[in-house]
Amino acid sequence: MKIQVITLFPEMFEGVLGSSMLWKAQDKKLVEYKLINLRDFGLGPRKIVDDTPYGGGDGMLLKPEPLVAAIEAAKSSVVGNKSSVILMTPRGKKYTQAKAREFAKLENLILICGRYEGYDERITKFVDEQISIGDYVLTGGELPAMILLDSVTRLVPGVLGGDTSAEKESFSDGSSILEHPHYTRPEVFRGMKVPGVLLSGNHAAIETWRKQNSKKS
Ligand code: ADE
Repeated sequence: MKIQVITLFPEMFEGVLGSSMLWKAQDKKLVEYKLINLRDFGLGPRKIVDDTPYGGGDGMLLKPEPLVAAIEAAKSSVVGNKSSVILMTPRGKKYTQAKAREFAKLENLILICGRYEGYDERITKFVDEQISIGDYVLTGGELPAMILLDSVTRLVPGVLGGDTSAEKESFSDGSSILEHPHYTRPEVFRGMKVPGVLLSGNHAAIETWRKQNSKKS
């Protein structure tokens, strides 16, 4: 899978892409990430990417020409046609685990991080989906894009090993299981005991307890 991110702040992604599971996913060649600097598509010698809104109002908007040029460059670099262009915006559809599973099946994702007060509405014609990570407004789409790419990457087959496989988490009805609580040593911590059944060695009873203490979402 290839995930391309169009952003004015590619350096924000360095820590996330260079750590832990996302780094391993790249190392194992299961996922390829590419950061596209929107500034490279800016207009004129000053590489302008934003402008004031028609009709007046506060703040600046992302101009359509650089964004659409960046989307077209991202699209032209992919093989296969199973791709989706996703705009991160608080006005989008609420992101869920079911959506993450849908995205994980695609060969190519192109994520667009909005900035400033917003973007020229005409860019939405070049976008397949608009996604919000929740009903709150961030300063840009970078953190939402990181959340999306983290949640999608862990669902790509082979990224998580063995028992922790993502399949275990999902039901055929599209809902998802939120795992039961976990405990490790010591058996008693500040007066709190590990549930006895987990120490019983009775695998059937442990499985029943785990099911009963899992949540469906
Ligand atoms: N950009 C700013 N806020 C956002 C949100 N809640 N979800 C997605 N993108 C955003």
